Amino acid sequence: MGIQISPSMLASDFANLAAEARRVSAADWLHVDVMDNHFVPNLTVGLPVVEALAKATETPLDCHLMIEDPDRWAPGYVEAGASSVTFHAEAATAPVRLARELRAKGARAGMGLRPATPIEPYEDLLGELDMLLVMTVEPGFGGQEFLDLCVPKIRRTRELIAKHGLELWLQVDGGVSLDTIERCADAGADVFVAGSAVFRAEDPGDMIEQLRASAEKALSS
Ligand code: DX5
Ligand code: ZN
Repeated sequence: MGIQISPSMLASDFANLAAEARRVSAADWLHVDVMDNHFVPNLTVGLPVVEALAKATETPLDCHLMIEDPDRWAPGYVEAGASSVTFHAEAATAPVRLARELRAKGARAGMGLRPATPIEPYEDLLGELDMLLVMTVEPGFGGQEFLDLCVPKIRRTRELIAKHGLELWLQVDGGVSLDTIERCADAGADVFVAGSAVFRAEDPGDMIEQLRASAEKALSS
C-alpha cells in the first residue's frame, strides 16, 4: 500500500466536520478519535457522529476507539460506516474474537498499544489484525509532544511483522509532524495519523503531501 496519511479530526472544527473533511481530501483516511472519559480522561464523539460523517465524505473512516469495553461497542462502528476500527489492547477482553468480528462485518481490524504496553505479548495475535497502532503519546489529547521512547517499539513491531510474513499496516499516532515523521517511517511505520500538524497548517492539503513525501524519503533512504 505504501505510505498513507490519516489526519485526525480531533484537531478540526467539530462544528463543521463535513467541510473539514473536504479540506483534507488529499488524505487516504480520516482518523476519528472516539473517547469515553474512562479509558482516557477526555470525551469526544460516538456512533451518531461517526455515522453522520461517514455519509458526508467519500474518504474512508479510520476509527480509533479509546474506550472501555470495545468488545461491546466496536462492532457498531462498522455498522456506522467505519472502514477501519481500532480498539485498544489494554481495554479488550477478547481481542481475537473482537478482531474476527470486525473483519466478518467487513472492516479492517486494528489494535492499539499505549506507550507503556509492549508488543511482544501480542506476537501470536498479529495474524488476526489488519493494522497495529503504536501510540506515540499517551492517548487522550491532541497537540502533545511526540514520545521518542516509542520508536524502538515501532522497529520491533516491524521486525515481528516481517518475521511472520504478514501484510499488517503499522500506524503511528501522536505528535506526528514534519519534525518526527521521518524517524517513524525509518523505524517501519507506514500509516501516519496527524492532527495538529495537518489542521493547524495554512494549507492542510499541501501539508499532507509534505508529510507523505518526508515519509517516502525516509523509507527509500
Ligand atoms: C490522541 C489521539 C490522536 C490525536 C493526535 O489520543 O489518538 O489521534 O488526535 O493529535 P496530534 O497529531 O495533534 O498529536
Ligand atoms: Zn487517534
